[in-house]
Amino acid sequence: MPDALRDDVYRRPLATALERLGIDAGWRCVDVGAGGGDVSVALAEMVGREGRVYAVDSDPRARDEAAAAAAAFSQVLAITQAGEDLLLPELVDLAFCRFLLMHVIEPAVVLARMRQAIRPGGYLVAQEPITSAGRVGGSPLSMPDARWPDLGAELPALVRDAGLSIVDAWAEAPAGAGPGPVAEYLGALTGVDPGDDPVVLPPLVTVIGRLS
Ligand SMILES: C[S@@+](CC[C@H](N)C(=O)[O-])C[C@H]1O[C@@H](n2cnc3c(N)ncnc32)[C@H](O)[C@@H]1O
Repeated sequence: MPDALRDDVYRRPLATALERLGIDAGWRCVDVGAGGGDVSVALAEMVGREGRVYAVDSDPRARDEAAAAAAAFSQVLAITQAGEDLLLPELVDLAFCRFLLMHVIEPAVVLARMRQAIRPGGYLVAQEPITSAGRVGGSPLSMPDARWPDLGAELPALVRDAGLSIVDAWAEAPAGAGPGPVAEYLGALTGVDPGDDPVVLPPLVTVIGRLS
């Protein structure tokens, strides 16, 4: 597991996906909606100096954050670009997004652009939550700021409809009780302090698609 995944409560589904893909040195990847660049750095560790990772985000502040996080990895190129306009100088082996499609106006449009960025035989990995399936003390979670908080439930069909074959798809949810990383993550996400109540964070649906 790459070091950069250590402090992320959703590291397990990401690590599982990256291991299943068998990402190798030299791969070209794009991380769309890269945010602070955690995933981009993890990808950079796996593809090595011969590879390349485009960290793409529509917010220039995210570009700066991703560039700073990846300062030690010259194979990471941080770019300001909307997923709807995704255009790279080369085809990639892997187009990745996590917690992105739930925020965009039309997820299918972004997935179509990601598909266009992939070389024949390359992969698309998308990871999106089913927010309302999360629980705090048994009650469902909500995320009013997200456009599509339960997008994970639609994700396999969206990836298929984008023209990719589904190689694998599954859901995983971090859980905990009392103080710890899961409670801290919930607090940062929703402002809710669960106290001693049990927490099941929103299950993250991972879909691995392949372009034939
Ligand atoms: C919740 S963060 C996820 C960050 C990162 N993918 C992760 O898993 O840690 C969502 C990111 O998507 C970016 N974003 C939102 N809409 C976008 C769009 N249409 N195109 C590209 N990036 C977008 C936001 O600026 C933000 O940095």
